[in-house]
Amino acid sequence: MAGFEFIETTVTESIAVIELNRSRQLNALNRKMVHEIITAMERFDGEEDVRVIVLTGKGRSFSAGADIEEMTNDDPISLELLNQFADWDRFALIKKPIIGAVKGFVFGGGFELALCCDLLIAASGTEFSFPEVGLGVMPGAGGTQRVTKLVGRTKALEWLWTGERISAEIALKHGMINKIVAPELLMEQTMTFANRLAKQPPLSLRLIKDSVNKAVDYPLYEGMQYERKNFYLLFASQDQKEGMRAFAEKRKPDYQGK
Ligand code: CAA
Repeated sequence: MAGFEFIETTVTESIAVIELNRSRQLNALNRKMVHEIITAMERFDGEEDVRVIVLTGKGRSFSAGADIEEMTNDDPISLELLNQFADWDRFALIKKPIIGAVKGFVFGGGFELALCCDLLIAASGTEFSFPEVGLGVMPGAGGTQRVTKLVGRTKALEWLWTGERISAEIALKHGMINKIVAPELLMEQTMTFANRLAKQPPLSLRLIKDSVNKAVDYPLYEGMQYERKNFYLLFASQDQKEGMRAFAEKRKPDYQGK
């Protein structure tokens, strides 16, 4: 995908990779960069040949957070008029699986970006942190909400109030990431996992993501009604016919995402 200044994109088979490309600043996220990331993600979400999106960063770190220089002179009215979080809101609308492959520092807005991914694979030595408190502010791109829903109020408050660095091991223990791999194997292992997902029926993945996301916000009964509708919906797909026919015929299914 051409025309981006702060990211690079590639597609290998059915996996789209978006790389943050501002490594001299440890991939500090300026506003244009966030706009580019979500724009690329939306395009890949709409491309039939892409089944999984991988988000990662060039250089030694995933991202050291929002670009501090860019926001030093902001005031509440300039921020309101800028409406920068409209871009962030769009991450929740991506339907395909997003795997974050993270390493080095995953700080502030970089941590919030990682939390927009569905699954996270971290290189050993990765450190997560919300350092905003040390700058006299707090997360503004969903950090307090997403981390609390993931790990609960007690740890969330501790991490957000102190800004302490959270090791990959602690992140794994609290269910914040899916696995830890050797740094040199980060992309290889992420692509292996992404390939596994890419072989699954895309509509099932899509409606499972939709249902699991509802579980975060809905009470159990309403969530189960929602799940049921998605379950019924999949019986309108060709892939449901293919999956069940392949089982009966004792062969591998060939899913088309239709
Ligand atoms: N914004 C702008 N530039 C940043 C940056 C950031 N968040 N993080 C790092 N950089 C720049 C540094 O200024 C430095 O640039 P120069 O070479 O031009 O001086 C370059 O990246 C490399 O950084 P360091 O030399 O500091 O590297 P280090 O290994 O010594 O330290 C670090 C790494 C501990 C992550 C340190 O860079 C740091 O503390 N960065 C700031 C982290 C932070 O506070 N992030 C939160 C931002 S606020 C936020 O994200 C709010 C929100 O929710 C919207």
